[in-house]
Amino acid sequence: MPETQRTFVMVKPDGVARRLVGEVVRRIEAKGYAIVEMRMLTIGTDLAEHHYAEHVDKPFFSELVSFITSGPVVAMVVEGTGAVAGMRKIMGATNPLEAGPGSIRGDYATVITENIVHGSDSPQSAAREVDLFFG
Ligand code: RTP
Ligand code: MG
Repeated sequence: MPETQRTFVMVKPDGVARRLVGEVVRRIEAKGYAIVEMRMLTIGTDLAEHHYAEHVDKPFFSELVSFITSGPVVAMVVEGTGAVAGMRKIMGATNPLEAGPGSIRGDYATVITENIVHGSDSPQSAAREVDLFFG
């Protein structure tokens, strides 16, 4: 059986602007995961560049940083059995056009930049991101 894990989840500025915070929280809790930390903030450029450091050389990096700093986000630590991979399933594929129906991105998004939600992609990323936002 997978272990209990903590993962970092964030409702991105588009999700907050579209009043989808409650829907994202509902899906996390309906799955059986616990929200153990939660905070609304507007990310500054420095934090954004640290958070997305793995993408610094990608052509979409500046678009990504300007989008994620464009309005308030809701940052969370989510805990539960297999929570890292489990949250990625709940979110769906990065490109909303490839995300299945029933997933957050599949149900609510069409554009890759504005894909509503972030979730850590590994336990190592989760530890780093939780520390960045809540350490
Ligand atoms: P996230 O980090 O936001 O949870 O998303 P992810 O793991 O599913 O995808 P990742 O590869 O880490 O990409 C981070 C975010 O960058 C935007 N992106 N744009 N224009 C593009 O080709 C492109 N590719 C990625 C997306 O908003 C993605 O969530
Ligand atoms: Mg990622």
